[in-house]
Amino acid sequence: MPTATSDDTSRPMSEHRPASDPEPGRAFLGTPATAPGPLGPQMLRAFSAIRANPLEYLSTVWQEYGDVVQFPIPRPPSYLVNDPDGVRRVLVGNGRAYGKSTIQYRSLSLVTGEGLLVADTEPWRRQRPLVQPAFHHETLDHLVGHVDTAVQRIFADWEGLPPGAAVDVDAAMMHGALEVVGHALFGTDLSADAARLATATLAALDVVVARARVPVTPPGWVPTPANRKLQGAVRELDDAVRRMMTARRREPAEVPKDMLDLLLASHDDTGAGLTSSEVRDQVVTFIVAGHETVASALTWAWALLGANPQVQRDLQDESDSVLGGRPATFSDYGRLPLARAVFDESLRLYPPAWLITRRSREADVLGGREIPAGSLIILSPWLLHRHPAVWADPESFTPDRFLSGRADRTAFIPFGAGLRQCIGKDFAYVEGVLMLSSIAGRFHLSFPEGGRLPRAEPLVTVRPVGGLPMLVTNRT
Ligand code: HEM
Repeated sequence: MPTATSDDTSRPMSEHRPASDPEPGRAFLGTPATAPGPLGPQMLRAFSAIRANPLEYLSTVWQEYGDVVQFPIPRPPSYLVNDPDGVRRVLVGNGRAYGKSTIQYRSLSLVTGEGLLVADTEPWRRQRPLVQPAFHHETLDHLVGHVDTAVQRIFADWEGLPPGAAVDVDAAMMHGALEVVGHALFGTDLSADAARLATATLAALDVVVARARVPVTPPGWVPTPANRKLQGAVRELDDAVRRMMTARRREPAEVPKDMLDLLLASHDDTGAGLTSSEVRDQVVTFIVAGHETVASALTWAWALLGANPQVQRDLQDESDSVLGGRPATFSDYGRLPLARAVFDESLRLYPPAWLITRRSREADVLGGREIPAGSLIILSPWLLHRHPAVWADPESFTPDRFLSGRADRTAFIPFGAGLRQCIGKDFAYVEGVLMLSSIAGRFHLSFPEGGRLPRAEPLVTVRPVGGLPMLVTNRT
């Protein structure tokens, strides 16, 4: 049996306790308790732990109180829902009754504006069909070439290393994924504006994450260093996108070459398209949503393959027989089932988007608990993917569960589910699977002496503390 993940956030689920009843009369400033959960003083005492690692805290309260946990917060009433049917109901069955007006998405919108990821239902309904053409088949076809460019650069970097040198695989995956999404968006002739845009997006995101970690954040108009950094980065973003759009609009492409051309050309039946500021918001959203997520998934896949060398050898065999060392093509994607299963199992254990939030528009019942209208609903793919009622031996890295059809995909939500499911899901699979298989064909990755799976830190995505140092050995 492959080794288990060794992460502090995931305690053995044998410790998971069934739901208890809320204490009678428990209420928070007039908001009645409808589900068990911590009391105010307990949560206050846990404050620094919550700030240090919110995911670990969610894991603890789930184990303590069960599948629906109510926090002692009156406005809005706030619940963690990890009941598999309840999660499905929020995202799929009754998805229309849940919107995105939550702190999580409002903070992200400081960077992404009203792009597709954070847009609440009404603006989203108009935007989604206009954005969809950017993810059509041709985009995925071109993507394969961009993945190969990134892979060849990684090969060149790693081949130049002295024997026995460790590389930071996390940094390599971050760089590779940024290159891929940048090329997909702006074509291969990356201008200085495109590079500046990507850097400014990441700088702005840093501030947003830092803000989420402090209890009180001064309003945006207060000139704190963080606010100034955020405003500077957003100004830079706006300028770079505006210049790129002006250049493209001056000479529109006859045949769209990249995702930016597709966004600029997109229109509905009435001929209306996305406004300039909407295109800006989607471009930034794609960088935010499509860079660190894929990189994080790939990093954890390599960490898990380092901890499970037999699976890595099987992956190498698959790559040798399908790719045989040549660059991957789009048709190879469907012929690499083990690479796909490894990517899926990594997404199960280390889902990059570890938190999904919603605001309920009407009263509902989730996991047998009444949920009032206006509640904050916290879902965590990380916790759902470890639910012992769904996943056998949830802590173990077993890609085979995805090959044998034993995996319950209804409780597998790394890309969300329902109406608001990730629009970049196929993009991520093509990139992730081809990148894993191509690299496995050329290099063997192992932990240096004494190395192990890094600790996971939940930031915008789940990140490895201290990066991922690994030894890379050329197999050819
Ligand atoms: C492994 C990689 C990825 C993961 C784990 C991931 C995860 C997610 C999740 C969980 C959601 C739903 C959030 C919610 O329901 O609140 C989402 C939405 C979204 N993702 Fe991804 N994503 C990935 C890759 C990408 C890529 C490559 C792109 C674009 C290039 C992208 C663009 C988006 C957009 C635009 C949305 C909003 C869709 C909508 O609401 O209509 N994602 N993603």
